[in-house]
Amino acid sequence: MIHNTQKTYILAIESSCDDTAAAVSCNRMLLSNVVANQKIHEQYGGVVPELASRAHQQNIIPVVHEALKQAGINKSQLDAIAFTRGPGLMGSLLVGASFAKGLSLSLNIPLIDVNHLQAHVMANFIEEKESTNEHPSFPFLCLLVSGGNSQIILVKSANDMEIIGKTIDDAAGEAFDKCAKIMGLPYPGGPHIDNLAKQGNALAFRLSKASIEGYDYSFSGLKTSFLYLLRDALKQNEGFIAANQADLCASLQHTIIETLMHKFKQAVADYGVKDIALAGGVSANSGLRSAFEKFGLENNKAVFIPKLAFTMDNAAMIAVTGYYKYLDNNFCNLALAPYARVSL
Ligand code: KG4
Repeated sequence: MIHNTQKTYILAIESSCDDTAAAVSCNRMLLSNVVANQKIHEQYGGVVPELASRAHQQNIIPVVHEALKQAGINKSQLDAIAFTRGPGLMGSLLVGASFAKGLSLSLNIPLIDVNHLQAHVMANFIEEKESTNEHPSFPFLCLLVSGGNSQIILVKSANDMEIIGKTIDDAAGEAFDKCAKIMGLPYPGGPHIDNLAKQGNALAFRLSKASIEGYDYSFSGLKTSFLYLLRDALKQNEGFIAANQADLCASLQHTIIETLMHKFKQAVADYGVKDIALAGGVSANSGLRSAFEKFGLENNKAVFIPKLAFTMDNAAMIAVTGYYKYLDNNFCNLALAPYARVSL
């Protein structure tokens, strides 16, 4: 447990993909959290890297300015700047990293590089004035599910995490998004599938579930079986998707959740942890949140799920991770380059 009597103000910047985000924190307490989404990618059905970096360049100054204003903090009060080093899109990361470096140099304060995946896990440690502010106790297991990752992580401490299972191909979010695209739903498809699934029968269609060794996942077979199901059905009935949209979404979501939970339950039993946590964009899924809570309740585990704003890409999680690195005096220098691909 940390006992820091000092007030440490951190400005955090996140620009790994298509959201430009900035947050200000005082220790673990979040003072402001600003996100500028980039609508421009919707028309392309996915993120266009070059457009994302240009939009970050336009957004970064107003977003940082707004975060400082909402926090009621002057730049001169900041103790450190934290930024997402990766993984992510290189052009997008470069904008946030360069801005963070420039600001830390001009203010003469330390710079902290943050791993985006570690930060998703650490979203479970963000404090807010109005919330209960309970957080998981170490060690705990975290199911990190996003557009690019599906991992089971043994979290030994804030700065010591071990991936014990991961996807060998597509991530869960990718499975949601790609299947949504096949159905003609807008990007990103995950939230649309979640909404439509509420009206559907989860057992209407049987989809393929991968059987992989250990705690690893695979979702590419599910995507293919979904594609073939639609291809065959559309030959008989052109209106098949429209007529069965809710049932298709419910069945797909059910299969993804069952797959995720099956391995996670196995890991919890094997590692005997008391606390379990969810993280990443897909943890916004209402079905997954319910399944996770139900499992915790039935197995006497303390369950931690970040609030919706902290499941998607955000700078609040970069701030809290930066704070734990600040306590370890774990700073970086101006020569540090972002990395597009990296593990924990
Ligand atoms: O963590 P995130 O914002 O970005 C990274 O991949 O880092 O996650 C985005 C992913 C997308 O695949 C999106 O479709 C998915 O999270 N997602 C959802 C839901 N909300 C977002 N998937 C299923 N149900 C949702 N409600």
